[in-house]
Amino acid sequence: MDRLIISGNKKLKGSISIHGSKNAALPILVASLLSNQNLTLENIPNVADINNMLKLLEGCGVKIIKNKNSLIINSKNLKNISADYDIVRKMRASVLILGPLLSRFGYCKISLPGGCAIGTRPIDIHLKGLKKLGAKFEIENGFVIGQVSKNLIGNKIKLPSPSVGATENILMAAVMAKGETLIDHAAREPEIVDLGNFLISMGAKIEGLGSNKIYIQGVNNLKATKYKIISDRIVAGTFIILAVMINSKIQVKNFNPNHLKSLIKILKKMGANMDVLNSSIKIYPSKKLKSAKIETAPYPGFPTDLQAQIMSLMSIVNGNSEIKETVFENRFMHVPELNRLGAEINLNKDIAFIKGNKKFKGAQVMASDLRASVSLVLAALCAEGKTTINRVYHLDRGYAEIEKYLGKLGAKIMRQKI
Ligand code: UD1
Repeated sequence: MDRLIISGNKKLKGSISIHGSKNAALPILVASLLSNQNLTLENIPNVADINNMLKLLEGCGVKIIKNKNSLIINSKNLKNISADYDIVRKMRASVLILGPLLSRFGYCKISLPGGCAIGTRPIDIHLKGLKKLGAKFEIENGFVIGQVSKNLIGNKIKLPSPSVGATENILMAAVMAKGETLIDHAAREPEIVDLGNFLISMGAKIEGLGSNKIYIQGVNNLKATKYKIISDRIVAGTFIILAVMINSKIQVKNFNPNHLKSLIKILKKMGANMDVLNSSIKIYPSKKLKSAKIETAPYPGFPTDLQAQIMSLMSIVNGNSEIKETVFENRFMHVPELNRLGAEINLNKDIAFIKGNKKFKGAQVMASDLRASVSLVLAALCAEGKTTINRVYHLDRGYAEIEKYLGKLGAKIMRQKI
């Protein structure tokens, strides 16, 4: 298990280019199971979750030819239509294979999921939605076994809450179901729009992407395509927050700032000095940063995936801040670790109270989940002295070679293999 050793308080400057979106690439890779044609995908990020997904797909018999950040994927000859505990426990997104496999083969078996240790994260909304399309499920020895007697059949499905994964799973199942499907109260995240656009490029008929009502007209087959995945808005948001914390001139490039409106709004309100361009944001030193009160929410609200990072920032601005986490229970595991670095954050159920004006000081800390890990990297980069972050495999799930990436800006981050 690697660890990172970070020497803090170094002046960072320059520009950083954002890699492809992990959360868009995962469902798009899975959607390739729907087709027996060659699909070319570009802007695939080199992160552990993607490599695990490629292993899962290869285990099913999918042929993948990789070339840097692109790959050609072909699911013509599938041999195994199940996903075992070993892979699903590492990555909850494995549950997304249910929709496409039920659609193409009428059968799928997956181990019940693991993933980030944030809350209980059930899959009831996925299963209820797929049942509405005609699938039947049994739980046996820790596996979910899904079956369809003939074809999936379109239906009206109203989600109890806008789950990202459930919207994607049902969308993938519905594109080749018989007739029309409506996903009501659907999630609106840009990654879902990207999945939908990829499916449309293969010939799927989908309307309403990005709204809370998605209409799908089933088609009989999907054709070959070449598709470029969007850049990672959460990685971009993380580095924008870092630039504000470091208070220097940094440009974050190669992503769509429209995907980060809620973050930009709150940072500007806090006093951050930035220019928002078409596909980049320039951050400049700010005079005085002040506190804020935010709530996480499904898109277009403030992303839960940036909650830990903005908490790092809130610890060093003037005044006291508050964050209410409404999407996941138990997503405050970074709090004790940030406190070890000198923050003063208190929790009351789903609200974090963050005392401002703190100065981070280097310490030994433990990474607990993906976004929690990176909030510690941000704090460590601003800290006096040396910080050791243990268990960084969580970080590698979503950030490609962060030490090299940030090294280009002047950060001193060393990876130690133990
Ligand atoms: C996706 C993202 C994750 C992000 C999250 C919310 C991927 C691979 N991951 O996760 O980074 O933090 O969206 O933006 O894209 N829930 C249920 N039953 C279900 C499904 C979900 O109760 O069947 C609950 C979850 O426990 C959670 C909430 O709904 O409290 C949101 O989960 P969901 O939107 O499904 O997140 P994921 O798709 O797992």
